[in-house]
Amino acid sequence: MDDQVRNTSFGEYQTPHKDLREWLGRIEGIGELKVVKGAGWNLEMGAIAEMIYHDKPENPPAILFEEIPGYPKDFKVLSGMTASAGRLAVTLGFDKPKGSMDVVQSYRDRLKDFPLFDAHHVETGAILENVDRDEEVDLYKFPVPFLHEEDGGRYIGTGDLVIMRDPDDDWVNLGTYRVVVHDKNTVGLWMSPGKHGRLIREKYFREGKPCPVMISCGHDPLLFLSSGNEVAYGTGEFAHAGGHRGQPFDVIAGEFTGLPMPADAEIVLEGEILPGEEAPEGPFGEWTGYYASAVRTDPIVRIKRVYYRNGPIMTMARPGRPPADYTFSKCVVKSALIWDQVEKAGLPGVKGVWSHISGGGRLFNVISIKQAYGGHAKQALLLAAGAHAGNYLGRWVVVVDEDIDPSNLFDVNWAMNTRCDPAEDIDIVRGTWSGALDPRKRVGDNLNSRALVDACRPFEWIDEFPHVAESSPELMEATIDKWGHLLDD
Ligand SMILES: Cc1cc2nc3c(=O)[nH]c(=O)nc-3n(C[C@H](O)[C@H](O)[C@H](O)COP(=O)(O)O)c2cc1C
Repeated sequence: MDDQVRNTSFGEYQTPHKDLREWLGRIEGIGELKVVKGAGWNLEMGAIAEMIYHDKPENPPAILFEEIPGYPKDFKVLSGMTASAGRLAVTLGFDKPKGSMDVVQSYRDRLKDFPLFDAHHVETGAILENVDRDEEVDLYKFPVPFLHEEDGGRYIGTGDLVIMRDPDDDWVNLGTYRVVVHDKNTVGLWMSPGKHGRLIREKYFREGKPCPVMISCGHDPLLFLSSGNEVAYGTGEFAHAGGHRGQPFDVIAGEFTGLPMPADAEIVLEGEILPGEEAPEGPFGEWTGYYASAVRTDPIVRIKRVYYRNGPIMTMARPGRPPADYTFSKCVVKSALIWDQVEKAGLPGVKGVWSHISGGGRLFNVISIKQAYGGHAKQALLLAAGAHAGNYLGRWVVVVDEDIDPSNLFDVNWAMNTRCDPAEDIDIVRGTWSGALDPRKRVGDNLNSRALVDACRPFEWIDEFPHVAESSPELMEATIDKWGHLLDD
């Protein structure tokens, strides 16, 4: 092990969890793991995740599917790894949070002083317990879920890590991109234009070369949090997740590509994408709440090796009409990344950022600021809309004053209703980065627009703005002291 280590403790624990299995023990320990036995791969696991996540949007458990009919008894699927404030705190090593904004605050505070820990290469690890090579490869040996009724196939990669090396600059990118099983040794990998994995694949293709790739389908949720969110181009997500861990991740070089895979991952596929080889992909129920990207052809990956642990656990993230089983963590990480990026671009006075779950962590983002000068609110809007973390497939960006909690939709709506004059305070930016998942765009139209909504009091006459008609804190405190018992009834 390198001597690179930041923490002597990890939230409430002595050390960061070693792998997904130790993490599962911790989640069980805080009472947030629900074991479901006997659910099938064909729609059942997906619909159960939807049922639980819609019924309990506030604090849903992680769901561990066991004893999946037709598969070895010890093959499992895990849904909703990081979709509660408590589980995120355990995953990231934060103290027990009071609510979502606490986790956003802790994540963004950590980013202020955030050393990256490059992956540590080792020779062996649990992922090598089983290796299927070439003709032995059969992806149907795993309980790959068919998630939504109108999906174009069984998706083995949803809560995955797609691992690729930039051929020019030799850094390794992780991205979470959907992966459908075409047949026993071929998958389809859908990466939206502009995503780093796609930019890397295009570099190989421009040279007429195959693009090497690894796909981890079960792993430490810390890796999923970095992989599925917008980390800057050129910053490897292994190092980013290592930064959160306070220690490097151990990785092993794959036999076929030499790419690094997490030594303690559960299932890893390894292969290559050959220029010109395509197959039909989609549709798939997506995070916007709609089936997206109608069936069209997309590059395929030929799988040459499959590595897996004994009793492997596949990590699943099932998008769909929100809330889905991963949206909460997306919103927390997205909010913290936008907060960090706008501050690093020079924006002062940020009090909070929240990317709303109803917008899937992209479509409705709110930033709250303490206004200090004319134009401050507009600067916040432009930066929040333009920051890498907030740009892809956004729709609404709203800026509110510091008295409004950006995560409280009622209060945000009240600010929009009372401090925003649509003709004066809403700007539209056109030609912005969208993609095939945008339900409001026709197939092939990858651009959309943004509404920048200034719901702050106008800075130029802020002192004249009507006072909020609510009791002063002193009056309310005295009232609660004397009359608070009325609330007990
Ligand atoms: C559960 C989940 C599924 C995702 N599926 C896709 C996908 O199929 N295609 C895609 O381009 N982005 C997808 N994303 C978004 C990317 O993972 C995200 O934009 C990430 O930043 C991509 O990595 P990159 O910035 O290195 O490109 C998904 C994210 C999550 C959390």
